[in-house]
Amino acid sequence: MARPAARRRATALRQAAALMLAALSFFCMCRCCRARDAAADNPSSPPAPPQPKVPAVIVFGDSTVDTGNNNGIGTILKSNFPPYGRDMSGGPRPTGRFCNGRLPPDFISEALGLPPLVPAYLDPAYGIEDFARGVCFASAGTGLDNKTAGVLSVIPLWKEVEYFKEYKRRLRAHAGGGAARRIVSDALYVVSIGTNDFLENYFLLVTGRFAQFTVAEFEDFLVAQAEWFLAEIHRLGARRVTFAGLSPIGCLPLERTLNALRGGCIEEYNQVARDYNAKLLAMLRRLTAARPGLKVGYINVYQNMLDLITNPSTLGLENVEEGCCATGKVEMSYLCNDKSPGTCEDAGKYFFWDSFHPTEKVNQFFAKKTLELFYEKVL
Ligand SMILES: *[C@@H]1O[C@H](CO)[C@@H](O)[C@H](O)[C@H]1NC(C)=O
Repeated sequence: MARPAARRRATALRQAAALMLAALSFFCMCRCCRARDAAADNPSSPPAPPQPKVPAVIVFGDSTVDTGNNNGIGTILKSNFPPYGRDMSGGPRPTGRFCNGRLPPDFISEALGLPPLVPAYLDPAYGIEDFARGVCFASAGTGLDNKTAGVLSVIPLWKEVEYFKEYKRRLRAHAGGGAARRIVSDALYVVSIGTNDFLENYFLLVTGRFAQFTVAEFEDFLVAQAEWFLAEIHRLGARRVTFAGLSPIGCLPLERTLNALRGGCIEEYNQVARDYNAKLLAMLRRLTAARPGLKVGYINVYQNMLDLITNPSTLGLENVEEGCCATGKVEMSYLCNDKSPGTCEDAGKYFFWDSFHPTEKVNQFFAKKTLELFYEKVL
């Protein structure tokens, strides 16, 4: 257990970092929000085979899989400006993905013979004919706990589910009842969520959850929310799901920075991630045993990430501690911008793009792991 003084200091640092993010974000919001990218389908995408085994990729969760929903909502947590998207194929293109390039769902979609980018549901450049082959409801900054979404005014998970219901109605009107049902039941559902519940909510002490729950109780609460969510999308027709566990959240650059006095990863946070993951996995086993039609693959992000951090050279990585953008120690969203000095030349050498999110190269690796699990356990 941390000594009280060190803990108070860490908490103060964390709150200062959050305030700094909020203030600076507000300050440059007007400047940065002007350029709305016209996201059109990538012209270089290969034509999809006539009858892909998986008709669509449907995405729920947070910034690890948000392909641009936050662009159009009133939050400061955005990334639709340079240098985000600087390594997109076809030239720099900030889309609201928290990355220098694409996210795991994009790579998964492409590998399944579907479009190379999964469109954000709230992006007006796309319509139901696009969403019929893939759609993303995720929102950066959200969590399993309703209160997490409230911290930065993003889309709560229950609302992602409401959008999914609306999507189903639009899909029926567009494709007819039978085809809509087949798309919904045969689609691959990619779910990645949970980090913000701890790092933006519980440990940041901003919502009162830390006073209401012990960490163990909060883990149980989150797993119950995950169970509610899965039961709900199953009821609505989902059958094939991959659900990501937590990464070693104490090793994210921002957390390493906040831990500067002790150095290295925050082991206390990594322990929480392991405990939560064990509870999540037990819940998934129980849930799928009780619902024979539902298959849920657990993505061991913790192990996948730790493997890379311990053996970075397997992917040609040279830096697994700092983000590529700016100093790499604290910057994300508006603090990672065109004017930030220090941004690295070659993001391919980095695990992290900003202080919170992986580079495209790492996302491609995570996508590969997810697909392997999908073919082995879910399909
Ligand atoms: C989260 O918010 C929604 C909408 O207000 C509500 O229906 C749901 O019960 C809430 N969940 C919890 C656990 O409070």
